[in-house]
Amino acid sequence: MSNPVENDQYAVIGNPIAHSKSPAIHGRFAAQSGQRMEYQRLLAPLDGFALCVSAFRAGGGKGVNVTVPFKLEAFALATRLTPRAQVAGAVNTLKFDDENILGDNTDGIGLVSDIVRNAGVSLENKRILLLGAGGAARGVLLPVLSERPSELVIANRTVSKAQQLVELATAHKQGEVLISACEWSQLSGKFDVIINATSASLSDEVPPISGDLFAAHTLAYDMMYGAQMTSFLRFAQSQGAVLRDGLGMLVEQAAEAFYLWRGVRPETAAVLADMRHALE
Ligand code: ATR
Repeated sequence: MSNPVENDQYAVIGNPIAHSKSPAIHGRFAAQSGQRMEYQRLLAPLDGFALCVSAFRAGGGKGVNVTVPFKLEAFALATRLTPRAQVAGAVNTLKFDDENILGDNTDGIGLVSDIVRNAGVSLENKRILLLGAGGAARGVLLPVLSERPSELVIANRTVSKAQQLVELATAHKQGEVLISACEWSQLSGKFDVIINATSASLSDEVPPISGDLFAAHTLAYDMMYGAQMTSFLRFAQSQGAVLRDGLGMLVEQAAEAFYLWRGVRPETAAVLADMRHALE
């Protein structure tokens, strides 16, 4: 009699981790595509990320998602990196094989997929404003540039950090895109897409940008999401913009990780609709 096929093991590692939606999302993807896998939450001690990963891998784990505050440690732990993880300087997905720990960053491609495929807004030849210059902003640079916008302006409270991202983006630009850093007060003209990659919404603040930057067709995207609309989206709404929060990005980054691990591209629309419903 043959042994029953064991399920492949995956996990999300973070601290805190109790509220992670990743197990629910990956559980849906696995059920949908008939993949034999299990996905659990792992709480790593703040000084114990690498140990947590090696114990999971030694127990047969095939890969992990990595969340706050371990994305830089995951970057350091990876023995091979995808180009988008290299530019992001951070890793949210690890895939294990016998020799290597492959590190990827699916956050940026998740954002782009949500904008282009789910919201139906092309970034090609568009004027894009990126608010923020921390890890979240850096993570989306390469995927956004790959869509060939006409202009990318990066604005940040600490302007020197925006300038650093401009240098990084310029080193990886494709085609004739204009890339610049700008102070809040110097921003001008209308933007087609304004992406809030700051954490200002956490303290119910809004980056101090003018409402004049929004046109009626402007897509205002907040990487954050919650049961309530973020302060940035409330401001964008008052300017008549088209609104989108980061729940779709969460589902799409998970779909990219699932694809990396399993080679199967999950359907995301129904999963996103259910996640939205659960938030309400
Ligand atoms: P993350 O990994 O979420 O990007 P981070 O690397 O700490 O976190 O970056 C937070 C970003 O939000 C930074 O761009 C930060 O601006 P500074 O570089 O000037 O610190 C920005 N940010 C945080 N609170 C903000 C606020 N109240 N108004 C505007 N920008 C804010």
